[in-house]
Amino acid sequence: MVKAAVLGAAGGIGQPLSLLLKASPLVDELALYDVVNSPGVAADLSHISSPAKVTGYLPKDHGLRNTLEGADVIVIPAGIPRKPGMTRDDLFKINAGIVRDLITGVAKYCPRAFILIISNPVNSTVPIAAEILKAHKVFDPSRLFGVTTLDVVRASTFVAEITGEKDSRNIVVPVVGGHSGDTIVPLLSLAKPPVSIPEDRLAGLVNRIQFGGDEVVKAKDGAGSATLSMAFAGFRFAEAKGIVEPSYIYLPDVPGGDEIAKAVGVDFFAVPVELGPNGVARATNPLETINDDEKKLLEVAIKGLRTNIDKACKMKISLG
Ligand code: NAD
Ligand code: LMR
Repeated sequence: MVKAAVLGAAGGIGQPLSLLLKASPLVDELALYDVVNSPGVAADLSHISSPAKVTGYLPKDHGLRNTLEGADVIVIPAGIPRKPGMTRDDLFKINAGIVRDLITGVAKYCPRAFILIISNPVNSTVPIAAEILKAHKVFDPSRLFGVTTLDVVRASTFVAEITGEKDSRNIVVPVVGGHSGDTIVPLLSLAKPPVSIPEDRLAGLVNRIQFGGDEVVKAKDGAGSATLSMAFAGFRFAEAKGIVEPSYIYLPDVPGGDEIAKAVGVDFFAVPVELGPNGVARATNPLETINDDEKKLLEVAIKGLRTNIDKACKMKISLG
């Protein structure tokens, strides 16, 4: 029996993500929460002939509590998206407060749930979530994930476009670091199976993976950022179990993580994670064998990440 909850369920990501969860045979109960329109989205999805029982809640009448109680997996795409010209960090002011309030609810009503954070800037919203959970004395680093799967999905797709591979799912590229611009570090030298990228296309490919989000923001021209590809990626991560998938996590207290945290000098960092029944079974370290170009990318990423993490940790956490 799995109860999944989506916070921000009426939004551009929330709706297609909720559709994928409703269609999944792994979900028995699906609770949708948003500040607008969640009962409508729930009514619509409830007509689909699949096992999950769907409910929709607004903040009134203890909506957040009803959404979260008994939940096993919480996916959070609540918050504002970028417009052209904005960075993800420009979303901090509004989205940090939204994530803080939602995670306070998680700490109170379902502290053992797996928490998957999509709201940007992920580099900062995950550390904020960790701080809130710590303040409530319920932080389990093996259950808190920043969802960076879209970077992994993009890396597969963009590499396949160059190599001519027909099914991009056959190409797996570890992507480490964070989730914004040059904090995103694709490790093309470790792609499986190995890929051969022409020298004159390598820098462009790395740049496209790092700034793939901008491509969508620009194309949507003020109407938001990636939603459908994000719903695909978010669902892929939500149903992942027993496999290795990169995710942005708090490293020091998970198996295999401490050594990586010491090597990179930041505590929050995305690495390929072995996912087990209790969340992070092991953080794996792909950094020892990377090439010199990737080492340079990593250096830049760590600098940016440190700033994003410090900003989050300086935010005043109040226990609501
Ligand atoms: P959207 O505006 O379409 O939807 C956001 C939803 O959140 C809206 O329905 C809104 O009502 C709801 N919301 C706002 N405040 C809330 C609150 N306090 N409680 C519950 N719900 C609340 O935006 P979107 O396109 O779905 O994007 C959502 C977030 O996901 C953005 O921050 C965006 O930057 C981020 N994002 C992350 C990734 C990633 O790879 N991690 C990819 C794409 C987008
Ligand atoms: C993405 O990578 O598509 C998301 O983080 C949304 C954005 O702002 O680009």
